[in-house]
Amino acid sequence: MIRRAFVIGHPVGHSRSPLIHGHWLARYGIAGSYERVEVPPEDLAPFLSRVETDGWVGGNVTVPHKEAACRLVGETTARARRLGSVNTLWLADGRLHGDTTDGEGFLASLADAVGPCWMDEVGTVLILGAGGAARAIVGALLDAGANRIVLANRTAARACGLASLAPSAIEAVPWEAIPNVLPRANLLVNTTQCGMKGQPRLELDLARLAEEAIVADIVYVPLETELLASARARGLRTVDGLGMLLHQAVPGFERWFGVRPDVTPELRAVVEADI
Ligand code: ATR
Repeated sequence: MIRRAFVIGHPVGHSRSPLIHGHWLARYGIAGSYERVEVPPEDLAPFLSRVETDGWVGGNVTVPHKEAACRLVGETTARARRLGSVNTLWLADGRLHGDTTDGEGFLASLADAVGPCWMDEVGTVLILGAGGAARAIVGALLDAGANRIVLANRTAARACGLASLAPSAIEAVPWEAIPNVLPRANLLVNTTQCGMKGQPRLELDLARLAEEAIVADIVYVPLETELLASARARGLRTVDGLGMLLHQAVPGFERWFGVRPDVTPELRAVVEADI
């Protein structure tokens, strides 16, 4: 029988996940499908209650359902509970399970770009933003052992809220304080929408970053954001947002179809062509 996985969202048409999973299904010769399903908020609970009877093996959850799905799913991983968010669901023992893989995806993309020993180079991490993506990345960094994280967010209260996850490891600073933190940051991560096509620019002078610093952006439209372009112009190492998108998909595919897929240059090219 064909294994069927979904991506649910509202709207869901923009999701690039079908491209990623479709590429892997073809590459590994798996008789499966990965389908977009438009699910408005009022249909989320009924949809999740019918996953097994409707013949799905699981799927992805995207905006705006990540938090609501976390509350509705029977079993969640510790990291999903901590972040209050899920992006990957699967059936096991007749129950729906949920996990959040964005943070793991970010760390894998960092390892791809910088090497497996990236953690040795990460002293102080400066994170811009305190939304869902920042939460996932902060959670994964804490799990990996990072203990000097500085959070700057336009809305200060949100950064303080996220810092309370681990007060001894995370410091929240005002958005205006970013230039003062740059000289001691080894890793700078933009998790805001700034720099995305159609969104405001990220006004940042990277001159104060150390030469060995790494600059990461989770924005991938465009792939080379102004932030990454100015980091490259300074000769700094960069991590673009496409790697995180590709790597966050790996655990789901493995759960649904039984093969741990590789993130290859071919896959990158397929998704890049669609950006
Ligand atoms: P995501 O799930 O992608 O993280 P989100 O939870 O809506 O999305 O979070 C968006 C993040 O981008 C927030 O940190 C937001 O800052 P606020 O908490 O102040 O809203 C940040 N952001 C969005 N637009 C921004 C802008 N123009 N300048 C600075 N930060 C911005």
